[in-house]
Amino acid sequence: MRWPATLIPVLACLPVIAQNPRYGNKLSPYVASPVRVVDRMLEIANIKPGETLYDLGCGDGRILIAAAEKYKAKAIGVEISPKLVATATSRIEKAGLEGQARVIQGDLLDVDLTGADVVTIYLATQLNAQLRPRLEKFLKPGARVVSHDYAVPGWKPNKVDKTGERQGHLIYLYEMPPVKQ
Ligand SMILES: C[S@@+](CC[C@H](N)C(=O)[O-])C[C@H]1O[C@@H](n2cnc3c(N)ncnc32)[C@H](O)[C@@H]1O
Repeated sequence: MRWPATLIPVLACLPVIAQNPRYGNKLSPYVASPVRVVDRMLEIANIKPGETLYDLGCGDGRILIAAAEKYKAKAIGVEISPKLVATATSRIEKAGLEGQARVIQGDLLDVDLTGADVVTIYLATQLNAQLRPRLEKFLKPGARVVSHDYAVPGWKPNKVDKTGERQGHLIYLYEMPPVKQ
């Protein structure tokens, strides 16, 4: 079988993509945070009205909706699964929160996080490790990162909280340090 000439450069890249750890580990499976954990994550984030929250890998949009509804935050989700993007968008519309919350379809490792005051994540450790340099690059001093169950490797948390059924869920809070002079 002969491949069309236009496809040859794409096919030539495939082994490189498959071997690249960024592509191999960049997907975390979908598991929703229980409502109690979502509430606690937002409480710990100390989010204020008008602040901007990013939920990286936003699933069905529950964190976005809670942040917009209860805390009057501007909430932006990033989600790689088109099906979950549709679910989250429809839940946002049903809640009448289109003016405050939205979902970007794409890879969370490609998003500019400059405007974020709070970033929430519930991702595997390896993905947190890949995300870390981007958080360090984009986030301003005082921005908070709140992670459900999985630490960000190499960072020291400001707080580790236990919540949910039988205190079985860990929540890590990290605050971005002031810029060194
Ligand atoms: C464990 S779920 C968390 C969902 C939601 N944040 C919550 O706490 O309920 C992880 C989500 O991240 C999404 N995801 C995984 N890898 C991703 C990537 N590289 N870019 C964007 N979304 C991703 C998955 O599709 C899934 O919806």
